[in-house]
Amino acid sequence: MLKIAIIGVGTVGSSVANILKENKEIITARAGRELVPTIGVVNNLNKKRDVSIELTDDIEKVLNDDSIDIIVELMGGVEKPYEVVKKALEKGKAVVTANKALLAYHRYELEEIAKDIPFEYEAAVAGGIPIINALREGLTANNIQSIQGIMNGTCNYMLTKMIDEGVEYETILKEAQDLGYAEADPTFDVGGFDAAHKLLILGSIAYGIDAKPEDILIEGIENITSYDIEFAKEFNYSIKLLGIAKREDDNIELRVHPAFVPKNQMIAKVDGVMNGISVIGDKVGETMYYGPGAGGDATASAVIANIVDIARRGKGSPMLGFERSYGNKLSLQNKKE
Ligand code: HSE
Repeated sequence: MLKIAIIGVGTVGSSVANILKENKEIITARAGRELVPTIGVVNNLNKKRDVSIELTDDIEKVLNDDSIDIIVELMGGVEKPYEVVKKALEKGKAVVTANKALLAYHRYELEEIAKDIPFEYEAAVAGGIPIINALREGLTANNIQSIQGIMNGTCNYMLTKMIDEGVEYETILKEAQDLGYAEADPTFDVGGFDAAHKLLILGSIAYGIDAKPEDILIEGIENITSYDIEFAKEFNYSIKLLGIAKREDDNIELRVHPAFVPKNQMIAKVDGVMNGISVIGDKVGETMYYGPGAGGDATASAVIANIVDIARRGKGSPMLGFERSYGNKLSLQNKKE
C-alpha cells in the first residue's frame, strides 16, 4: 500500500482523491498495490468540497509524517510550492505535481534535489494528454525539430466561443473560470504565461534548454480585436494561441503568441478546452497529440498516471543528465535581452 497526501484540494485535487476511490479496483490492479488518498491539505477548512478524505491545514505535520509515501502538489504559485516540494523530496517522499509555473522556474533544481526519488509532472502540460511521456519515451529515438500547438485550454475555449458564437470576452472568461479551466489568477491564461510555462517544460525536455519565462516572447489573447475576429471569419481562419519551440541547427526558438491558422489545418480544428500539439521528430516525422487541456478529471487522470508509474517502478528522473548535457550545446535564438 502507498499513502498519498494531496496538497491543495481544489478542482484537480478533489478529482484525484475521487478517482482513486472510484476506479480503485482497476488502479490497484495496474499499480500492483493499493494507492490510498490519506489526507488533503487546504488553507480553509470551512470551505465546502466535493471530496471525502480527511482534511487538515497543517502542512508541516503532513510533510513530517513518515507514513506518507507520495506528495501530490496542487497548490499553485511558485515559491511556496517550491519549499514544499523541496522539503518532501529531502524527506525521501515521491512527488507528483501539476504545477507548470513551479517547473518553468525550478524544474532542474528540483530534479537535482530529487536524484533517485521519483519526481513526476505529466499533468503540468496539456492536462490529460500524455505529452511528456510521448517526448521522453515514445519519441526518444528522434532529434526533435519542432513542438507547436495549443497549450492553454482556457484561451482555446474562449477563442472558440468568441469566433464561433460571438460571445463577449468577459462573459466567456467567467464561464471558463466557473468550469474550473482557468488558473486562480486568469491573467496567467489570457496573458499567455501559462502556455509559456508549458512550452518551457516541453522545450527543456526536448532540448535541455534552461530558459525562463522572462527570456522568451509571450503575447496573450487580450489584444485580439473584433476586427481580428471578423477578418478570421471572412477569410476562413481560426485564431489560436500557439506555443512554438523550433530547432534550427544549434539554435532553439521559443515563443507564445496568437496566430491566424487556415481552417483546413489540423490545429485549426482543435476547439473548446481541447489542446492539440504537433511534434516533429527527424525520424518519425510529424506526430499529433489531442485531448482535454484542462479540467479536474482530465488533469487528475495524468496525475494518477504518475502515481501508478511510481508504484510500479519507483522510477526517478533518468533523463536529467542527458537533457542538461544536450542543452549545453544549444542556444536560445530569440532570447529577450
Ligand atoms: N488554466 C490551464 C488551462 C489549466 O486552461 O490550460 C491546465 O493547465
